[in-house]
Amino acid sequence: MEQQKRYGHFDDQHREYVITDPQTPWPWINYLGNEDFFSLISNTAGGYSFYKDAKFRRITRYRYNNVPMDNGGRYFYVKDGDTVWNPGWKPSKTPLDFYECRHGMSYTRITGRKNGVEASVLFFVPLKKWAEVQKLTLSNQSNETKNLKLFSFEEWCLWNAATDMENFQRNFSTGEVEIEGSTIYHKTEYRERRNHYAFYHVNTPIQGFDTDRETFVGLYNEFANPDAVMEGKPRNSHAHGWSPIASHYIEVTLAPGESKDFVFLLGYIENEQDQKFAAPQVINKDKAQALIAELNTTEKVDKAFAELNAYWDALLNIYKVKTGNDKLDRMVNIWNQYQCMVTFNFSRSASFFESGVGRGMGFRDSNQDLVGFVHQIPPRARQRIIDIASTQFPDGGCYHQYQPLTKRGNNDIGGGFNDDPCWLIFGTVAYIKETGDFSILDEMVPFDNQPGSEVTLFEHLKISMDHVIKNLGPHMLPLIGRADWNDCLNLNCFSWDPNESFQTTENVSEGTKAESLMIAGLFVVTGKDYVALCKKIGKDAEAERMQQAVDSMIEAVKKHGWDGEWYLRAYDFYGRKIGSNECEEAKIFIESQGWCTMAEIGADEGMVAKSLDSCKKYLECEHGMVLNNPAFTKYIYEYGEISSYPEGYKENAGIFCHNNPWVIIGECIAGRGNDAWSHYAKILPSYVEEKYQTLHKVEPYVNCQMVAGKDAYKPGEGKNSWLTGTAAWMWYTVSEFILGIKPDYDGIRIDPCLPETATDYTVQRKFREADYEITIHPNGAQKGVKSITLDGQPVAGTVIPYSAGKHTVEVTM
Ligand code: GLC
Ligand code: GLC
Repeated sequence: MEQQKRYGHFDDQHREYVITDPQTPWPWINYLGNEDFFSLISNTAGGYSFYKDAKFRRITRYRYNNVPMDNGGRYFYVKDGDTVWNPGWKPSKTPLDFYECRHGMSYTRITGRKNGVEASVLFFVPLKKWAEVQKLTLSNQSNETKNLKLFSFEEWCLWNAATDMENFQRNFSTGEVEIEGSTIYHKTEYRERRNHYAFYHVNTPIQGFDTDRETFVGLYNEFANPDAVMEGKPRNSHAHGWSPIASHYIEVTLAPGESKDFVFLLGYIENEQDQKFAAPQVINKDKAQALIAELNTTEKVDKAFAELNAYWDALLNIYKVKTGNDKLDRMVNIWNQYQCMVTFNFSRSASFFESGVGRGMGFRDSNQDLVGFVHQIPPRARQRIIDIASTQFPDGGCYHQYQPLTKRGNNDIGGGFNDDPCWLIFGTVAYIKETGDFSILDEMVPFDNQPGSEVTLFEHLKISMDHVIKNLGPHMLPLIGRADWNDCLNLNCFSWDPNESFQTTENVSEGTKAESLMIAGLFVVTGKDYVALCKKIGKDAEAERMQQAVDSMIEAVKKHGWDGEWYLRAYDFYGRKIGSNECEEAKIFIESQGWCTMAEIGADEGMVAKSLDSCKKYLECEHGMVLNNPAFTKYIYEYGEISSYPEGYKENAGIFCHNNPWVIIGECIAGRGNDAWSHYAKILPSYVEEKYQTLHKVEPYVNCQMVAGKDAYKPGEGKNSWLTGTAAWMWYTVSEFILGIKPDYDGIRIDPCLPETATDYTVQRKFREADYEITIHPNGAQKGVKSITLDGQPVAGTVIPYSAGKHTVEVTM
C-alpha cells in the first residue's frame, strides 16, 4: 500500500485533532454545545447552529450537497490592502501562509496567517448558555503598522429548516431584522407566533454593517468575493424580506507586534408572551443584553472556556486506560467517549450526512446509544429511558421514532419494527448496572404519552419481552414485522413503486411467515439479562417464566436457525431461508452471527466457533466485516430495501460498522482474543487514520456508519460519519469486553479478552461513589482471570464487590 497523503494528526495532550491542510478529502467537522444550543463546524468554519431541534429551530442557514461543498458558515473576512482572506481558507480560498484547525472537546480553533497578520478564532458554546462564542484574535506579526478591514458574516435561517428550503413564495417576504449598536437581531415571524429571536453581536463599536444578503454579496457574486468586502465598504443595508444576514464591519489598526481580541456572540433568546415587545414592532432585548453582558470580555470568555474544559475533564476522568498503545488509549480516553456524547446529543438528526430535517430520535438507536454515555451522565440517561418508554404501545410494540422537542412518537413512520421492544431492556439494564438505581423500575411511565395510562417501567420491560413471545412464526422464531435492526430487510413490503417507503409500506403482512434470527439472538441476550434482573429484585416466578421462553428460543434457533456453518438470517414471507448456503446470493449475514454468538446459542455443539470462523472466512476484508456475502447484484422484490443498494454499499454488503462489534463481542465471549482484537483494530479510527486518510475520506477521529465493502467500487471509502450506533458499540466492546471492566449490580466484573501480545495495563474507573485503580497482568493469556486482589486482599470470583471510596485492584490472568 503506497503512503497516503496526510491532512492532520492527533494531539493527545490537548485532546485535539489537528488539521493542517484545509483541503481535506471531505469536510472534517466537530460539534459545539452540550445541552440546548448546538452547532456543527467544519475545518473551514462551515456549518450551522440550532436550538434543541435542527428542524424546527434552525438559527443559521446551511445548504447541503452544494457546489462548492460545505458552502455557508460563520466567516470572517480580513481585507489587508488588496488582499482578502479568511482564517479558515474558505470561502475566499486565498492561499494562506499558515493554516491550522484544532478540533477539541466541544470547541474548535481555526488559525490562519497571511502577509504578517494572524487571525485565530476559538469557537465554542459555553455551558448552560444559549450562544456560540467566536473569540477572534488578530495579531500583527509584521514590522509595519497594519490597517485592516474586518467583516463578519452569518446567514439567518427562517427557523424551520425544511420550509426554509422550499416555501419561497412566503419566505422571500417575511424576513425582518433590527440593528442596535453592535448587535444585529433576527426577528422573522416574531410579530406573530414565535416568541424567540436570535442575535449576532460583537463587543466593540462597529463602523458599519449589512443585513441584506444580496446587497452584501451582490446577486452575481459568491461568498468567496462579496461586493462589500471586495470594495472594503459596508452598505449598512436593512433587510426587508429576501434573505437576512448579519455582517459587522470593523476597522482595525495594529502596530507591529500588537494583537486584539474581538468577542462575537451568536445568541438565541425566548421571551414570555406578554414580554415580547419593548414598543410596537420593537423586540424586547433585555435578555439578549443580559446574555451579552455575561460574555463580552476576553476574561469572561476565557473563564467560560475553562469551565467547558473542566466539564470535559470530569467526564473523561470516569474511565481512563493506560496501555502504552497510543492508538488504543486515545480512542478509549478521548475520541470514542466524545463521539458517544455527540450521538447522545444529536441522535441521528444533524451531521454532514443527516440534514437535520429528517429523522427524530430512534427507539432502538437511542437505547443503544445509552450504553455509550450512561457512565458519564447517569441522570440524563435515566430521563432518556423514561422518554423512550413513554412512546411504547400497550401491546409492547413501540413507535420507531420520536421527536426531540415534543417527545411524541412519530406517526409518519409508526411502529412494527419487531426488534424495538428488546432494546428497552438492553438500555435499562445498562443504566441499573452502572448506577445501582433500581428505583427506576418503579417509575410510572405512560403508553404513547397518554396521561392516565401509566404503569411501572418494570411492566414496560415485561410487555417488551412478551411482545416477542406473542409474535412468533411457524418455526417458533420471532416475526420480523417491518424490519428488525436492519431497517432494509423488509420482508413484508413487496414494492414496485419507487415512491413508496420501504419502511412504511407493508403490502402483505397478513399470513406472513417472515422470521428473524437476529431478533432471536437479541431476545436470548436481553432475555438472560431480564431473568437475572427479575431474580435480583425477587420476582422469581417471572424469572422462571422468562427462562423457559429463552430456553425455547435457544432450541428453536438450534433446530431451525442453523445452516451448517453459520446461523441463518431469516425466513421470508413464504417461509424460505435467507442467509443460507442454498441461496444464490447473500448466503451469510453478519447480524445473526453477532447476536447468536453473543447469546452463545449452540456453543457446546460447536455452532459459535463455526459461526465466528465463517465471519472471518466470508465477511472479513481489509477494512472490516461486510454485512452480507456475496452482495446482492439484483433487486429482490421479496426482500425490500436491502437489495436496492449497489454492491458493497450500506446494507448491501457494506461494512456497516455498527454490527462489527457484535461479532467482536461474540469473539470475546468465546475467549478468542486475537481474533477479537484484529477485527476491532480494523475499524478503530486511529488505525485507519494512520494508513488511509485519503481513501477513508471522512473524519479519521470518529467512526462512520459505513465503509464501502469488498464488493464496492472503492473498498475502504467511509460515509455517514459521526451519528452512528457504532460509537456506543465500540465503547461497550472495548471498555467491557476487551479491557474487561464490566459494571454489574453488586460491583465491577473483571473479564478481559485480549490479544496474546497484550501487556500490563491500568484502568482508572469511577463507579458510583467509588474510585478504582485496576491493574491487569495478562501474562500472555487471551482470556480467564486467575486471581484478583482488592486493596491487597484476595477476592473470590471475578466481581469486585462495590464499596465507596478509593480502591486498588490487581488482576492476574
Ligand atoms: C441506521 C439506523 C438504525 C438501523 C441501521 C441498520 O443506522 O439508524 O436504526 O438499525 O441503520 O439499518
Ligand atoms: C435507510 C438506510 C438505513 C437507515 C434507514 C433509516 O433504510 O439505508 O441505514 O437505517 O434508512 O430510516
